[in-house]
Amino acid sequence: MTERFIPPHPPRSAGPVPVWRGFVGERARTAVYGWSERAFELPYFGRKVFGYNVHIPLTPDAVQRVLLDNAANYVKPDIVKTLLDPTIGRGLLSSDGQLWRDQRKIVAANFAPAAIDALIPVFARTARNASEAWRAADRLDMAEAATATTMRIIADALFAGDPRLATDAAMAHIAAALEGVSEARLQALLGLPLFPWSRRGRRALRGRTYLRQTLTEVVKDRLPDGGPDDFLGRLIRALYDKFESAEALALAVDNAATFYLAGHETTANTITWTLFLLSEQPDLQTQAADEARAALAAGADDPALPDRLPLLRRIVEESMRLYPPVPRFDRQAVAADQLGEALVSPGDIVSIWPWLLHRHRKLWDDPDAFDADRFAPGRERHRFQYIPFGGGPRVCVGSRFATAEALTVLAHWLARWSFAPEPGREVRPSGMVTLRPAGGLPLRLTARP
Ligand code: HEM
Repeated sequence: MTERFIPPHPPRSAGPVPVWRGFVGERARTAVYGWSERAFELPYFGRKVFGYNVHIPLTPDAVQRVLLDNAANYVKPDIVKTLLDPTIGRGLLSSDGQLWRDQRKIVAANFAPAAIDALIPVFARTARNASEAWRAADRLDMAEAATATTMRIIADALFAGDPRLATDAAMAHIAAALEGVSEARLQALLGLPLFPWSRRGRRALRGRTYLRQTLTEVVKDRLPDGGPDDFLGRLIRALYDKFESAEALALAVDNAATFYLAGHETTANTITWTLFLLSEQPDLQTQAADEARAALAAGADDPALPDRLPLLRRIVEESMRLYPPVPRFDRQAVAADQLGEALVSPGDIVSIWPWLLHRHRKLWDDPDAFDADRFAPGRERHRFQYIPFGGGPRVCVGSRFATAEALTVLAHWLARWSFAPEPGREVRPSGMVTLRPAGGLPLRLTARP
């Protein structure tokens, strides 16, 4: 029996939080900040935000209706498209209808189980290279280390190791671009042009410009035939087969940006939160490290490696429950619908909140406490109460990639190093699009004997 451990979450008020609070102070920077206790108990609540009706369904059945049973009625909201357009255009994540279907079909094969198995050596090599530079008793920002590692992996796995895509400058620009979304969100809701008013907004604009320029160069260097038979090459060829050349080029850059961004920041956050949770629970960390050592001894580059890490897998799943890397995502209703008691009108926004569902009192026992055994074999739950990767036809196309990657990287790091918290340092979740520890995650490292 392990000790009960409640990792930190933002404070919760007793009564409802007014809508305007969502646009000032910490709540404007951190999606998971400023929720009331009630939000973790109710089956549903609705609010009006700048003229939009926003529905927040909190029963798995209602979430299933939005994401699966009536998925055709729920598209990516116009406002989300406006916000994301300058960065990822009309790529897979931000398109709908036939354009989405065509793109999903084009990329799907790259994420089939056999394709992910073939990437285990890439994940393993990158994890080893990163940790070889670490020194005992180092105080290392593991959020930064995880981001640099997953960025290297995405560059190697999808873009033939293009050196332009795994640099410190790119890392800083991406962080700035993501931070800028919180500011742009208010402007987009108010229907204002996305003008960068503040220093943060201008940094975000520079970040986006850098990314788009770099990825346009990377794609153009592959023309006319797409170059090597890798993800980018296959993407370019398939798009040029299907669309006329100006559109194919635009979609190739949009998808390069989509996969580059969606494909590494989220996984980095998963690795970071898992290390945080293990740094606070040394006995569990030792068990995970022992499991990792045994698994690596049986074949460090072996496609079966993730299957030999059942404890670590449960810990990663619990980590994504407590700190979902994507804490919310949205849809917009095309036609009228009903979600439980709530009537949805055309144009209404439906917000899906893993952050609330994953800690909901009606769905989980002791929801704020860490308990990896929730994910032990035989434990049942509704498949739409735990949705770190979303669900239905638009479920994360990279979920298998991300899980195998996080397990492989963590196994290599835990086998060699033990991670301890910095005394007195508070960890606080932050971020509007993805959830990361505010100010990084400095941990103290000791080599395992
Ligand atoms: C732990 C890591 C990850 C998490 C938690 C995560 C989460 C999500 C979520 C919640 C969605 C659905 C959003 C919605 O329905 O509106 C999504 C979609 C997507 N993800 Fe991930 N993701 C992760 C890793 C990855 C990786 C590694 C890749 C690519 C290599 C990737 C690429 C995408 C793409 C392209 C979509 C859009 C799919 C579509 O609309 O058809 N993600 N992800």
